[in-house]
Amino acid sequence: MDIKSALEEAYRYGRGYTDQGKVADYIPELAKQHRDTVGATLINPDFETVSVGEDHYKFSAQSIAKIIIYLCVLETYDISYVRQFIGVTPSSKPFNSIIELELSHKNIPVNPFINAGAIVATSLLAQEYNENTFEKIRERAREVIGRSDLDYSHAIYQSESGSAFANRALTYMLLNDGIISPKINVEDMLNAYFKSCSLLVNTLDLAKLGAVLAHDGKDAEGKQILSVENASILRTVMATCGTYDYAGEFALLVGIPAKSGVGGGIVASSRSGYGIGVFCPGLDKHGNSYVGVRMLERLSKLLNLHIY
Ligand code: DON
Repeated sequence: MDIKSALEEAYRYGRGYTDQGKVADYIPELAKQHRDTVGATLINPDFETVSVGEDHYKFSAQSIAKIIIYLCVLETYDISYVRQFIGVTPSSKPFNSIIELELSHKNIPVNPFINAGAIVATSLLAQEYNENTFEKIRERAREVIGRSDLDYSHAIYQSESGSAFANRALTYMLLNDGIISPKINVEDMLNAYFKSCSLLVNTLDLAKLGAVLAHDGKDAEGKQILSVENASILRTVMATCGTYDYAGEFALLVGIPAKSGVGGGIVASSRSGYGIGVFCPGLDKHGNSYVGVRMLERLSKLLNLHIY
């Protein structure tokens, strides 16, 4: 089947589920989104691009930004040092769980894609880049996605900062346990994390991110944007931890490394060279776009993308 027909078929199938998801409201600004907004972009191994629906609609990357945050950490420190502070184990609890942190080995976040792990990752960046931490993350996001005007939403950032009680609780526990250094300015670090989650993207941006990872770090022009090794690490952690406590089900159903965000986006990166971005803000109980997962399930079948 050609990629345009496959994407249109996945879009038709996904649209049948727009009444199933629930739009995130724990960040008040996100609650303004409409759950019948659906878009998708697919880039094939030859970098041909097709889109359907609201592919230009901008939404906040939310946890998808954790890919870029972790990439910056991997590019700043040796992986063996990073592993002392953040694990790579799939999570069995919700993405903002406090009990999981209490129960984990040495109180280290189990992986970089749950909130505690991404906050520790941002704190490691803050040790190196201080007040320029967010600029570092934004610059890298611009380079990897290939869009120099990529920026954050001030309204979403403020909304997130004003309602981040759970993230602050996790942060202070991590400080208490010595996982976050007391030498950094914790509020500045959290602001860098919130701004990163508020980066505005569309499905084309996500498909480009997925395509770069799928091509072992190379963009459409063949330029090496990130290392082969880091692209492999990111795809691996996406496959095992990218959809939180749904990752096992997702592996069975879709079988493509992917990362979701509560803004409603999902980026997927197939081993055969496809980059995919899907969007619909209604979420399942794990925080993954309900329609997005359905569209990826369909695409995986139609284009034979399941890696297992
Ligand atoms: O910190 C938060 O809660 C959000 N900025 C990001 C969480 C998120 O996207 C979880 N994903 N599905």
